[in-house]
Amino acid sequence: MKKNIIAGNWKMNKTNEETKQLIEELKPLVKDAECEVVCCVPFTDIVTARKAARGSNIQIGAQNVHWAEKGAFTGEISAEMLKELKVQYVITGHSERRQYFGETDETVNLRTKAALNAGLKVIVCVGELLSERESGKTAEVVTRQTIGALKDITKQELKSIVIAYEPVWAIGTGKTATAKDANDTIKIIRKTVRKLYGRASATSIRIQYGGSMNPQNASELMAMPQIDGGLIGGASLTAEKFAKVVNY
Ligand code: PGA
Repeated sequence: MKKNIIAGNWKMNKTNEETKQLIEELKPLVKDAECEVVCCVPFTDIVTARKAARGSNIQIGAQNVHWAEKGAFTGEISAEMLKELKVQYVITGHSERRQYFGETDETVNLRTKAALNAGLKVIVCVGELLSERESGKTAEVVTRQTIGALKDITKQELKSIVIAYEPVWAIGTGKTATAKDANDTIKIIRKTVRKLYGRASATSIRIQYGGSMNPQNASELMAMPQIDGGLIGGASLTAEKFAKVVNY
């Protein structure tokens, strides 16, 4: 049975002190959650977040990982480093990484593989730009990104992957894709997974929606048959809001 997964993506927010406070506040509010609960925090907050979340159902994730094992990559963090801190999840391919840091389908794939090799679970993000949506290219873009991200990843490894469909125009803008649009695009992504790995894998892989998901729209989105969770930015920064999404 697959379990839905709601993950917070804190982006570049929260100091150590704020991390401790947020996780402490969150713990009692999400303790009965039926879904998996993950907070993807800045690298510098991982240790604090892990400590604060100890004994709870909150898992801790990172927001990026480098593909090399080690070496001269100033400013980067390896999968082994994350593993040692007992990080369970890492996000790859977030649209902000693609947009501001030159991430490509190829580097998303390399980062994803490095994380899997270290035994981490990965939330791989895909999603179209507004211009791509308006020119009718959504299906083409998410299919290309999905195939690119999953290149050379085995069926067994796929079990450690969650895909997050995040239309770029819906991120941080307050514009949500309609539940139907999100569902339809996720269906396309699932079809791509089916072509690559077969029906069973396509059925069991969890695909989240992300993009201005909040306490007001979470239940409608989560009621859609194709949507298995959410990747939450803005609404994950306060315990009360995030808990409401988790307990949709
Ligand atoms: P948002 O961000 O919920 O603030 O739109 C989602 C994301 O970027 O993962």
